[in-house]
Amino acid sequence: MNTLPDQYRNLSDDEMFARIRAAREKLGPDVVILGHHYQREEVIQFADYRGDSLELSRIAATQATGARYIVFCGVDFMAETAAMLCDPAQTVLMPAMEAPCPMAAMADAADAQVAWDALTALWGDDVVPITYQNSYAGLKAFCGQRGGAVCTSANAQAVFRWALAQKGHILFFPDEHLGRNTALALGISLEEIAVWDSHKPEGGGTFQKAKVVIWKGYCHVHAYFTVEHVRTVREKYGDITVIVHPECPMEVVQAADLNGSTSFILRTVRDAPPGSRFAVGTEINMVARLARDYPDKLVVPLARSLCGAMYRTSPNHLLYALESLLQGEMVGVITVPEDTARWANVALERMLTLKE
Ligand code: 13P
Ligand code: SF4
Repeated sequence: MNTLPDQYRNLSDDEMFARIRAAREKLGPDVVILGHHYQREEVIQFADYRGDSLELSRIAATQATGARYIVFCGVDFMAETAAMLCDPAQTVLMPAMEAPCPMAAMADAADAQVAWDALTALWGDDVVPITYQNSYAGLKAFCGQRGGAVCTSANAQAVFRWALAQKGHILFFPDEHLGRNTALALGISLEEIAVWDSHKPEGGGTFQKAKVVIWKGYCHVHAYFTVEHVRTVREKYGDITVIVHPECPMEVVQAADLNGSTSFILRTVRDAPPGSRFAVGTEINMVARLARDYPDKLVVPLARSLCGAMYRTSPNHLLYALESLLQGEMVGVITVPEDTARWANVALERMLTLKE
């Protein structure tokens, strides 16, 4: 439930931005503001650190250490991760209070257990569970407790390689597309990839020949992109590099010129020579920012696709969170039960200590 008080609703941008800056200054080193690249400009302009999921996890664990409060502008699974990785003396706050990622909600530990029981009946313990960072702490803990790890889009291939060096199979949650694209990139054939549909009896498939079992979940922001979008931008712009996030469907990734995590997309556009032309298939706020930041290059969206969960954090919410801290009150505190956090941290640490 959004509990933004009325006095924070009808503010002009000028007043709001000035008050955010003033509160930020008064709070000084007590506060560090983290922002995911998909946040809108009005919010991310105030971030001390910007990053993708992996970068923000690392910052929460290692760089934001001096601050009493980590104000997290992103979505809830990211803030949960920060709360588990930061110093226990620190508090993580989410200005939007609730910004739930629909994909993270597509898999939970209880449903995962059903798949785990069926697959371990087939393969014994020859399977490693891996969950995408875009999942809730309960599922991360599930994986940590069973010898598994977390991955992000920036290190999914490295984590899959790590898993397959130990065991013969992977059970991957909750993004079907990232799972399939990662397995294919590692040379695993489509015949060795099976989809577990938790809404069907026994996962709705056959798993005997599978090496990688992927959960039937998706990010609507990236699943929105189609091969038709790729065809249309190529027709309109001719010689243009199509670059997409690996949460996009396999056909889109294969039709694109390049694919990679949010930070990969950012680096690729940033480091390209002036005059380069890109059609980018990821969240629209990030694409719009790339276009603004690199005016010597052409950057167009492959199509407009917005993450509503990211959009929930507004500058109004940020102001409310900061001014509340000045008054000695905390809004949007993110906590994770201790036993969940302990096992989820095991899975997170396995990812963070992995040599790529
Ligand atoms: P990355 O930050 O890992 O690229 O993930 C993209 C995403 O969907 C964030 O919610
Ligand atoms: Fe979730 Fe997709 Fe939004 Fe990321 S972009 S928060 S995965 S819905």
